[in-house]
Amino acid sequence: MLVNGISLSNYRNYRDIQIDFHPMLNIITGRNAQGKTNILEALFYTVTGKSHRTGLDKELILWGENFFRITLFGEKFSGRIKIEISTRADGKKILKVNGQPRKKLSELIGVINAVLFSPEDMMLVKGGPSVRRRYLDIEISQVSPYYCHSLSNYNRILSQRNSLLKAVREGEESEDLLSVWDMQLAEYGVNIIKKRKEVIQKLTPIARKIHANITEGNEELNLTYLPSINLDIEEAEVKGEDIFLKKLKENRKMEIIKGITISGPHRDDIDIRIGKINVKSFGSQGQQRTGALSMKLSEIEFMKNETGEYPILLLDDVMSELDTNRRKYLLRVVKGKVQTFVTSTGVKDVFDTVMDNSRIFEVESGNINIIQEG
Ligand SMILES: Nc1ncnc2c1ncn2[C@@H]1O[C@H](COP(=O)(O)OP(=O)(O)OP(=O)(O)O)[C@@H](O)[C@H]1O
Ligand SMILES: [Mg+2]
Repeated sequence: MLVNGISLSNYRNYRDIQIDFHPMLNIITGRNAQGKTNILEALFYTVTGKSHRTGLDKELILWGENFFRITLFGEKFSGRIKIEISTRADGKKILKVNGQPRKKLSELIGVINAVLFSPEDMMLVKGGPSVRRRYLDIEISQVSPYYCHSLSNYNRILSQRNSLLKAVREGEESEDLLSVWDMQLAEYGVNIIKKRKEVIQKLTPIARKIHANITEGNEELNLTYLPSINLDIEEAEVKGEDIFLKKLKENRKMEIIKGITISGPHRDDIDIRIGKINVKSFGSQGQQRTGALSMKLSEIEFMKNETGEYPILLLDDVMSELDTNRRKYLLRVVKGKVQTFVTSTGVKDVFDTVMDNSRIFEVESGNINIIQEG
């Protein structure tokens, strides 16, 4: 998968720019707050139909304007790809793929795939469970429209059910109304749990291999899904939905008191161990970083296995967070096969040797120029 170029109109601090990318390595440099991440964000937007930094499209529109437009030109095995997305301040979005209007943003799924690695991902091991759920959701949604559909329905039903729980607590609604929501929550919830479990099983050997390479075989990484509703605990013939519903029933009293849904995929986690040791609690900072890097990099091979093509790799400010060895490892594994976009305040801080086969850009307050071509 290749992104040949992108044009941005009124996107963040870019009024009108057109960038031609290098097929292998693109290094976007510039001082703080000049617009480096904005470029990766725009690329990510064409992958997911969302920004990774804000849920509010309005924030993406150049101040004082009333729309933005992103046009991406790419290539896949199946041929050329052109994605056009424009969004107005009133929330109306227009999407076209290869000139054909598409009604739903979900139709973007799989058109371009990307792995985004930003400083927050360094918290993948150390941070709270929501960071790990997000990691899974972004990754799986790109390869499975069914998962994406289940997840958005689950989240919608979850928030409606939570409102209802509060209303029941206040005596405004009857408890009987909950059962309709429970059935739907169980249906979508089970889809999510099953898929996450399957994906973690696929990711584990990939992440383990990467981890063993970085640590020169000294440590063994283990990833285990920790669902808050374990579908395996009952006999095989019991349906997942029934187990889910049983749990909701058990929780009901407490859920009404709290006014929230206390079990389900929105509460799940991944257990990360080196050998038998829980890295979140006992790992050194270096071990936590290596774990995070291995998990992120495993997404690349996973997507290749699922879709037949390598995704693009977006590295926002992470090079400076990694030590020389991990940095070298990262560049070595992606070299020659994964088109990579790196942001950094300086080239020298990040790359120990001058990179051949790359294009270096410099961004300055919404303008971008090529400063070196290798
Ligand atoms: N909607 C918008 N309209 C105009 N400018 C915006 C808008 N949103 C953000 N900006 C500007 O974009 C700049 C931030 O861009 P970005 O996050 O890409 O910076 P960066 O180069 O990645 O910086 P850093 O090195 O600190 O990460 C800021 O100057 C901010 O004021
Ligand atoms: Mg930035």
